[in-house]
Order: sequence, then structure tokens, then C-alpha cells
Amino acid sequence: MAKRKTKFMCQDCGYESPKWMGRCPGCGAWNKMVEEVEIVGSGKRGAFAHSQGIGGQSKPTPITSIETGNEVRIETELKEFNRVLGGGVVQGSLVLIGGDPGIGKSTLLLQVSSQLAKLGQSVLYISGEESLRQTKLRAERLGITSENLLVYSETNLDEISRTIDSIAPSFVVIDSIQTVFHPDVTSAPGSVSQVRECTAELMRIGKTKGIAVFIVGHVTKEGSIAGPRLLEHMVDTVLYFEGERHHTYRILRAVKNRFGSTNEMGIFEMKEMGLEEVENPSEIFLEERSEGASGSTVVASMEGTRPVLVEIQALISPTSFGNPRRMATGIDHNRVSLLMAVLDKRVGMLLQNQDAYLKVAGGVKIDEPAIDLAIAVSIASSFRDTPTRATDCIIGEVGLTGEVRRVSRIEQRVQEAAKLGFERVIIPENNLGGWKAPKGIDLIGVTTVQQALYVTLGR
Ligand SMILES: Nc1ncnc2c1ncn2[C@@H]1O[C@H](COP(=O)(O)OP(=O)(O)OP(=O)(O)O)[C@@H](O)[C@H]1O
Ligand SMILES: [Mg+2]
Repeated sequence: MAKRKTKFMCQDCGYESPKWMGRCPGCGAWNKMVEEVEIVGSGKRGAFAHSQGIGGQSKPTPITSIETGNEVRIETELKEFNRVLGGGVVQGSLVLIGGDPGIGKSTLLLQVSSQLAKLGQSVLYISGEESLRQTKLRAERLGITSENLLVYSETNLDEISRTIDSIAPSFVVIDSIQTVFHPDVTSAPGSVSQVRECTAELMRIGKTKGIAVFIVGHVTKEGSIAGPRLLEHMVDTVLYFEGERHHTYRILRAVKNRFGSTNEMGIFEMKEMGLEEVENPSEIFLEERSEGASGSTVVASMEGTRPVLVEIQALISPTSFGNPRRMATGIDHNRVSLLMAVLDKRVGMLLQNQDAYLKVAGGVKIDEPAIDLAIAVSIASSFRDTPTRATDCIIGEVGLTGEVRRVSRIEQRVQEAAKLGFERVIIPENNLGGWKAPKGIDLIGVTTVQQALYVTLGR
């Protein structure tokens, strides 16, 4: 019979101790001792002497003779949710969902659970944070009625594991991993070793029984999922649920997905009756755009497999004292500094004594090279206080010599711009040819930033 033994180990030098210590006697580092769980078996070679691979197959097998069957995916009614997962919930997958407090993680998962239950799947929703009554109240608000949805308030992993064995559900939701504890680990729930051990155990249960497991994870102040980084490596899919507190829009984003493309984005609106999907995100992001204002441009950015139009705003103003400030929300500030240096050197724009504030309107974060040209034009437009045309959409990557470089999926981007009524699309010259622009769109190919500024700002 395998037994678990806990010990503490320094993360830096590997010093071991039976009890926790603030300072490692081995290397003198503070706060580096973390709990480790050791499994001690009764046999000579320990608990892992008869270990089985995930999925029960333990011997080396020719890759050609492995039967996969068809990857079973179950689609929920929330198409945005399906897309972020790569086309539906995969059986046997382990999905981690992180997000700020109160953003709607429990709401989303309860809705998804109910939709899966309606499809005849048995779903076990385990809440360690809320009582059954609280969950029921939320379910009432969301209009959920399904016999197949079982709710369970428990935090002991042994109990959870036993219940899963007896009920044999096809989906399990753990809300949240920080409240669950493994009785063999002595540290408090939410600690690094607890979170790691519990996730490993849930992964084992899910993979061997073919159950899709959704785990809710809290995020730290910096915005990453609390607990060991290792957690993100262990699971199949990592989703972040984001949104601005003052907006009702919520964005579900895949940052890792073993079953689909990453950087896929799903957009929802939080309503009284729960989350509703938003079918055309570009419309929302451009909704409040004020036409004729300098410093504003629109770019078609690819979010996974879908183009989304977003507005980039820049405000350039003379520095009053000290070093000029560079601030960016929704885009990487290093990208902004780089583009300002290109404008300075290649276009001759004197930006060294200017403060620069950049923002992606609507609270989205975008990170792809194709937004470079739009950022550069925004900066120039604000600096010269000259607006661009409201019906211009600008796409292109900018190189350090000021050249405009080819981007991927140009046709899809231009189509999205055409759909939303844009008339002119400025794109890299190298992207022209080999495809046809939609009706009513005036395509302009540019090779340098300078040329793009001439086209959009007229000087
Ligand atoms: N009566 C209501 N009408 C509309 N929206 C509501 C109502 N009650 C709650 N909400 C929304 O639901 C959100 C809370 O959602 P939920 O509890 O799913 O978040 P969570 O991410 O699970 O939070 P936590 O981190 O506390 O677990 C609130 O922020 C609010 O926007
Ligand atoms: Mg919750």
C-alpha cells in the first residue's frame, strides 16, 4: 500500500527538512521552502513500481497502431465558448479558467454545465466557495432547470474523488482549485503544494475516466493564475476570463490549448439572465468612436482565427518636466517605444520631448505585429493634430528601417473592414495581388511608414 509522506524542500538549493523553515539552512535564502509530497510504496521500488500511463496504456506502441477514434467534442449553446475551446468541450480534457474576482467565472461555468446537462450529459458542479443555496440562487437567476446537473459543496479531494467514482459524470467543474485540499498534504488550501497535488489528482481522474474537468483558478494581483506556474503546464487548456469592471463585456481568451488554436477570443455580455454571446465584436469596439478626432485609427487585428476591428488611440503632448512618459493600455509599451523611435529616425518627427499615451479602446488587449502601422499613424496623427479619415482602416507591420511588411490573412481582415462599412484600407504593398478586394473597398498598398502617413494624413 502506498503511503504519502510530506517534507519541505528549498526551491533554490534543494535542502530538505521535515518541517517548514523561514530561512533555508542550506543556502540562507528566505521563504524558499515549499512542501513536497513523497509517495512511499510498500514494495522495494516504491509506489510507482506498477505505474500506468495516462489513459491506461503503459507499453511502447507504434504510433500507427494507436486507435484514436474520433476526438469527442461536445458543443454547448454558447458558440463563443465552443470556439475558444477549439470547437467544443473535449472529453477527458483538463481546462483551467482564471479571472479576476467577480468577473463571472462561476456564472459562465454554471451556464455551460446546464447546457451540457440539457444535452443529456451528467454534470457534477463542485463548489468549495459557495453553499448549495447560493448556487441554487444563481441557477434560478440564470433560469437553469435540469435534473442532470448535480451540485455538490465539498472541498476534501478524497471525498470528491469518491463521489466522482460513484456518480461517474461526464463533466466535472471544480470551483475553485484554491479551496480544494488533499488530506495528505499538510499545508493550507490554496498553497503551492495543495494546488499542485490537487490538480495532478484531478488530471489523473479525468484522463483515466475520460471526464472533462473544468477548474476555476483565482488570479494574483499581477493577473496570472495564483499557485505554481506549473499548473498551466499540467492542464490541456488555459483560459482567461477578462473584462473591465465598468463594462458589461467579458472576454474569454485561450492562452494555451492542446486541442485548438490559441489566442482565440470569445466575447460575452453580462446580463441579468447570465452571459450572452456577442456575435459581432467589431461593432462593439467601434461603437463609441468619435469621428474626426486626431490620434484615432482603426486596425483589423486577428484574434485567433477571427478578425476583429479595434480602435487605437494616441495622445501626444509636450513633456512638462523630466523624462517623457510612455504609457500604453492594451498594447505592449515596448512596441510603442520602438515605433516612436522609427518615426523619429525615419520620418524625422521630433518625439523625444513628447509624452505619449496609447490605448486600445474597449478594454481589449492586442498583441500582433499587424497593428504596428495603425499605432504609428495614430501617434503621427495626434502629434500633428490632424485626424485620419473615419472610413480608413490601417493594417501592416513596421520594420526598423521604416518599411511596411507583409501580414497574414489579409483577405479576412479586409473583408471584416468592408463588412463594417470602411471604404479605404491601407495595407502593405507586398500583400497586394493574388486575391480580390470586396466591393466598395479602395485598397492602397504602401511600402514605407512615410508613404502611409502621406496617404492618411496628407503630408
Ligand atoms: N442580479 C444580478 N444581475 C446582473 N448581474 C449580476 C447579478 N448578480 C450578479 N451579477 C453579475 O455576476 C457577477 C458575479 O459573477 P460570478 O459570481 O460568476 O463571478 P466569479 O468570477 O465566480 O466570482 P468569484 O471570484 O467571487 O468566484 C457580478 O460581478 C455581476 O456582474
Ligand atoms: Mg465564483
